[in-house]
Amino acid sequence: MKTIVRLDLSPQQANRVPAGDPVGEGSQIYFEGGDITGQTTDAIVNAANSSLMGGGGVDGAIHRAGGPAILEECRNIVARDGHLPPGEAVQTTGGKLKAAFVIHTVGPIWRDGMQGEAGILTSAYRNSMRLADRLALHSVALPAISTGVYGYPPKAAAEVAVSTVADELLASRSLHQARFVLWNSEMLSIFVQAARELQQRRKAEHWSFTTLEIDDSNP
Ligand code: APR
Repeated sequence: MKTIVRLDLSPQQANRVPAGDPVGEGSQIYFEGGDITGQTTDAIVNAANSSLMGGGGVDGAIHRAGGPAILEECRNIVARDGHLPPGEAVQTTGGKLKAAFVIHTVGPIWRDGMQGEAGILTSAYRNSMRLADRLALHSVALPAISTGVYGYPPKAAAEVAVSTVADELLASRSLHQARFVLWNSEMLSIFVQAARELQQRRKAEHWSFTTLEIDDSNP
């Protein structure tokens, strides 16, 4: 069994608006463990580096699973526009992935927290979400950007990630579902805890959390 936590950001609105109206679907953030490359969302966000030439971690996994077409598109983007600055986002197709698009972004390298790291991490999530919305996508899967090789402390990263993604979801036209796909159960509980603390800080009593137990024995 796999545990997935769903956060509904607008359940009251969802009850009021007639079915079929896109607003009536409400906005949800899901939190789950696992490998992001298997996601069936419209797009997957990649924690890339500025060269867009691939790497380890989630970046390596996405290029391996998606095949060489993604790297080819990245090469063309860099040839046309140069390296991708930290905090920015660009899209390629998903290659062999189930997701139609990969949104490549670059998080900050953690130094001491005083070098603008939080602002860059906010921009990375915000620009990824806005790009997905501009592409008229409905759902996107996101990793814990910068918490691996780039060394961002997980709890601080989760606070930025959850608050930025919630804000963007509520402001978006087409995007209604964000799924945080976290590599291990420790990161999963840190992200869920950050979401609960955000709800308290914002006094958002209408937000509701649901824990779903999914049978994943027959993928
Ligand atoms: N699915 C989901 N999450 C994953 C996966 C995966 N397949 N693989 C790794 N992770 C997790 C890591 O455990 C970490 O919590 O993604 C998070 C981000 O880690 P990294 O992939 O190392 O990304 P980041 O810290 O942003 O560093 C970026 O790493 O691989 C290079 O090219 C990349 O240079 C860039 C740097």
